[in-house]
Amino acid sequence: MSFDLVVKGGTCVTASEMFEADIGIKDGRIAALGEGLNGEDVIDARGNLVMPGGIEAHAHIAQNSATGGMTADDYTSGSISAAYGGNTCIIPFAAQHRGMGVTETLDLYDSRAQGASVLDYSYHLIVSDPTEKVLTQELPAAFKRGITSFKLFMTYDKMLVNDAQFLDVLSVAKEHGALTMVHAENAGMIKWMTDRLLARGLTAPKYHALSHPALAEEEAIHRAICMAKLVDAPLLIVHVSTPEGAALVQNARDAGAKIYGETCPQYLFLTHEDMDKPGMDGAAFMCSPPLRDKATQDVLWQHIQVGTFDVVSSDHSPYRMDETGKLANGPDAPFTVIANGMPGIGARLPLLFSEGVGKSRLTLPDFVALSSTNAARLYGLLPQKGTLAIGADADIAIWDPAAKGVISTNNQHDNAGYSPFEGWKVTGLPITTLSRGTRVVDRGQLYAKAGHGQFLPRAKFDATGRKGTHLPELDIAR
Ligand code: URP
Ligand code: ZN
Ligand code: ZN
Repeated sequence: MSFDLVVKGGTCVTASEMFEADIGIKDGRIAALGEGLNGEDVIDARGNLVMPGGIEAHAHIAQNSATGGMTADDYTSGSISAAYGGNTCIIPFAAQHRGMGVTETLDLYDSRAQGASVLDYSYHLIVSDPTEKVLTQELPAAFKRGITSFKLFMTYDKMLVNDAQFLDVLSVAKEHGALTMVHAENAGMIKWMTDRLLARGLTAPKYHALSHPALAEEEAIHRAICMAKLVDAPLLIVHVSTPEGAALVQNARDAGAKIYGETCPQYLFLTHEDMDKPGMDGAAFMCSPPLRDKATQDVLWQHIQVGTFDVVSSDHSPYRMDETGKLANGPDAPFTVIANGMPGIGARLPLLFSEGVGKSRLTLPDFVALSSTNAARLYGLLPQKGTLAIGADADIAIWDPAAKGVISTNNQHDNAGYSPFEGWKVTGLPITTLSRGTRVVDRGQLYAKAGHGQFLPRAKFDATGRKGTHLPELDIAR
């Protein structure tokens, strides 16, 4: 058989094994794994690692934020930055704001993504207004469209749902086979802390970290897990930033509950001291949950190593340090009206590889699991994406494990105008990303055009491996 493209002589890595093989690609799919394959086009991967492309499953792109602003990246710039960073698939959010329908929301994001992305994409649906119509008609219609994950917020005044609404969404999600994701921070504790800080005139960006205490995350994660256990619904706690939160996820999963966890590079590599800068400069590092401390980083790494976290995602939330973004409410605005979030879609994998594999915290299969395969499994994309197997999409990242680089705004290819990881030295870089067998980026050059990326309808959530929780009282209340 002659292939359209052969990736030749590399070391292939999946989430479970490593092997030397050529990869033969035909019609955008992996058609053969073997020796001596020939094709019309060949990529010489000798000395390099050949891995499933990263799946970036937590990114805010072309999205209106909780404070009203628009992210700096659209689907073109966001997906290009992702591709340069070794990703081949993105799952940003489609945000339902109050008063909007779910179908209307998905149509809006379709119009923002169609023809724009260089990578295949789907969305998680943010549900902020779970009306009766949303619960009974629009969420089931979203499943039919292949949107099989929802995100709920327990904080942000304009986005949060109450506990009863949370349970309603979990129940509908369970019934249809969707995964619920949650931003877990206690809104009341944040408001109470914020009011006191503002009353004392403590408005600088660095006080954002104080206003979101670790206990607010611990309490909300505990409550969210209890609610998921009540209805035996799968729940993924996103951007876990505290040892206490991580321990709650670990205990729940050890007990067989359908609880999953995510953390992000900013909680592994940055601390709240990065926010302690003159003027508004600290706003560049404002995200929620906020950056914590060095001791927390060490504990989160331990949790990554023992499997508490299924995914390490960027939570890419790009806002420029100007009046279009972080400074939209003026150069002296209090931290309460500064958009939360930081860019990082291009830096996620080089940082995780360099600090994880390069420092022997992770094996190469661990890296593949955390960066790609687990996201594919959680979000209904496996085996089409997230693995190197015959029949899978040829979504491949070729890495030079010895390449050295320095993360800088100039090499991130996003529109944020800054990188919170500026100056970080990394060893190991993606040199080629292939999407369905087509070069997206190759040795620094962008080849794919906007519109190459296609919408991906996703499959139901598969909770295999978790016994779950069964509460007899729910049989009566159902
Ligand atoms: O600060 C952050 N993470 N902003 C993005 C929205 C969210 O909470 O994930
Ligand atoms: Zn969040
Ligand atoms: Zn986020």
